[in-house]
Amino acid sequence: MKKMKALVLRGDAFQIEEVDTPVPSGQQAFVKISYAALNHRDQWIRDGQYAKIQLPAILGSDGSGVVEKVGNDGDKSWIGKEVIINPNINWGNDERFQSKDSQILGMPSHGTLAEYVVVNVDRLHQKPAYLSMEQAAAFPLGGLTAYNALFNKGKVQSGMNVLISGVGGGVAQFAFLFAKAVGANTYVTSSKEKVIEFCKNLGAKDGANYTEKDAVKNLAKSVGGFDIVIDSACGDGMNELIAALKPAGKFVFYGATKGLPSGLNMRQIFWNHLQLLGSTMGSDKDFFKMLDFCNEHKIEPIIDKVFDFKDAVAAFDRMKNSEQFGKILVNIKSV
Ligand SMILES: NC(=O)c1ccc[n+]([C@@H]2O[C@H](COP(=O)([O-])OP(=O)(O)OC[C@H]3O[C@@H](n4cnc5c(N)ncnc54)[C@H](OP(=O)(O)O)[C@@H]3O)[C@@H](O)[C@H]2O)c1
Repeated sequence: MKKMKALVLRGDAFQIEEVDTPVPSGQQAFVKISYAALNHRDQWIRDGQYAKIQLPAILGSDGSGVVEKVGNDGDKSWIGKEVIINPNINWGNDERFQSKDSQILGMPSHGTLAEYVVVNVDRLHQKPAYLSMEQAAAFPLGGLTAYNALFNKGKVQSGMNVLISGVGGGVAQFAFLFAKAVGANTYVTSSKEKVIEFCKNLGAKDGANYTEKDAVKNLAKSVGGFDIVIDSACGDGMNELIAALKPAGKFVFYGATKGLPSGLNMRQIFWNHLQLLGSTMGSDKDFFKMLDFCNEHKIEPIIDKVFDFKDAVAAFDRMKNSEQFGKILVNIKSV
């Protein structure tokens, strides 16, 4: 059996190891990974804070690479193509929510933090020509999640006031870039002043540091409230974000990094006809739509830092310590 290098998570270790190289069969493609990108999901799994963890695991939902082999002769046209991978497996038939059988690439199936990955051919998308392999790897999970939250749930339109909370996050930066591209009046929050300044230079109308008392409240007051708030933190900051909405505004959340709020102001929610909308990644159709949108608007991801493969664990530590602004990448080719 041929061997490849992969970052392997075990109960007692997280390190680069030599493992069997996967072999494609049937509808599968064998992709040589160029770059992988991290999502908070990977760090949750590393920390044991994720449902149904199966170890050992090769994590990584995002990747760009080149197709080297396919299982079926009928798919040979993919060979040699530069691709990105839709990490969403078995979304199911209902566009609105994932099926019970849905999975995400990178646990339980082996993910992109390896020299090679085997995925079904229907997960492949040609890399948008305007993006480098490095940039392209940043898109799949975060871009899809941001697209679903902003367009399908938030129903964003040009001229709306949209607040992206925790914009330093990998998904949030896409929500910011997409909202801006669609012509929304885009506002941001972050714990990092330099991130707020960076976004203002990119076209954010204004920003607030969510660690400062009343900063979000004051921002909302100064702009007359928000039509949409996009968040993934929840926790006690949720009430402040909900209070920042205009009547009939939408609070869209795709994560709950800070857990449950200790209380929710129900009266404020019903009295102002507010909507609380949960969201996850998105369907296969959404993935196509997200890529079309990015191609049309030439969206370039904000990349925090690119780590060599040998330093992949340090890349995870950067995410664990919330030091990043944008996507953290791993150069798998550097192995
Ligand atoms: N359901 C799904 O399908 C799905 C998909 C993707 C992500 N998620 C979830 O969404 C969350 C974010 O994922 P990610 O990959 O974007 O993570 P990430 O890159 O690690 O970003 C996390 C960001 O959260 C922000 N944050 C932390 N505490 C906050 C608070 N109290 N208020 C506002 N923002 C806060 C920080 O922003 P600043 O640095 O700007 O302070 C941080 O950069 C995770 O919980 C993840 O599991 C769910």
